[in-house]
Amino acid sequence: MKRDFIDLWNVDPDEGWKIVKDTLKAKENNLKSNTLSGKNIALLFTKPSTRTRVSFEVAINHLGGNSFFMQEGHLQLSRGEDVQDTARTLSRYVDGVIVRNHSHTWLEEFSKWASVPVINALTDKSHPCQILSDVFTLYERFGEDIKNLKIAYVGDGNNVCNTWLVGTGLFGLNLFVATPEGFEPNSYYFQAGEDLAKMTDGNIYLTNNPFEAVKEADVVYTDVWVSMGEEKKEEVTEVFKPFQINGELLSYAKDTVLVMHCLPAKKGQEITSDVFEKHADFIFTQAENRLHAQKSLLDFIYKKSHS
Ligand code: CP
Ligand code: NVA
Repeated sequence: MKRDFIDLWNVDPDEGWKIVKDTLKAKENNLKSNTLSGKNIALLFTKPSTRTRVSFEVAINHLGGNSFFMQEGHLQLSRGEDVQDTARTLSRYVDGVIVRNHSHTWLEEFSKWASVPVINALTDKSHPCQILSDVFTLYERFGEDIKNLKIAYVGDGNNVCNTWLVGTGLFGLNLFVATPEGFEPNSYYFQAGEDLAKMTDGNIYLTNNPFEAVKEADVVYTDVWVSMGEEKKEEVTEVFKPFQINGELLSYAKDTVLVMHCLPAKKGQEITSDVFEKHADFIFTQAENRLHAQKSLLDFIYKKSHS
């Protein structure tokens, strides 16, 4: 049976921890293997990407496979070929498809029709590879103590935020989310996170007060206020101003606070340049870890898809 990775709930807590712990081994050993030997993996992206695309292509190469990048505009999709036929055709040629798409619904449909593993490289609703890797970044730093951290996500209740809710439930973490009113995360993802949190002793708390979320936090995480495809929202960035990660807001956190950003950053909006530079080493370790986490994820998916 094939394994897809469309949302974090496609793995159970034990599987999630296995991927995270194997990421540490992959990073320590600079893992090179033959897991994907003879396999071709396509990347089908309709939005720009620096980290996700390059880290996946390098990861596939390190696992002995071949990757190739396709933009929607170069496929018959751009002339109206439907998702069902695109998925069925690609499945006859390649061994997996990694998709970055504007519509999560489209991706769910694609995965239904594809007979090879499909991995979500970001949609309007979720970004599971990002949060898997971010959980690893915290695990690498704190080990099992990760469960005792206060993690604050501050900013827009977007795809990254939605996925943090699910990640908190899956891994039993403690997450405070502060967004402006009207920009809260998706209620379906909130419920999925809550349901998982009941099994894992995780805790999710939503507020519209950034100071409440950041108070005594060990980790403060942010993302852009205007995600790809939401450019019209640029007009409403005013309401986000109290949610900027700056020196004043961070003074409410623990002195040892770590700042995370999935990148790309819009400095001067969700984070000030001085805060960004002060925490740049950790932020770029976070970016580096995408490579290691995706090697571990691919290893997991392709070993499972064989058995
Ligand atoms: N964080 C992230 O997904 O970055 P890219 O958009 O560059 O892939
Ligand atoms: N929320 C951002 C994440 C980019 C990695 C976006 O969707 O543009």
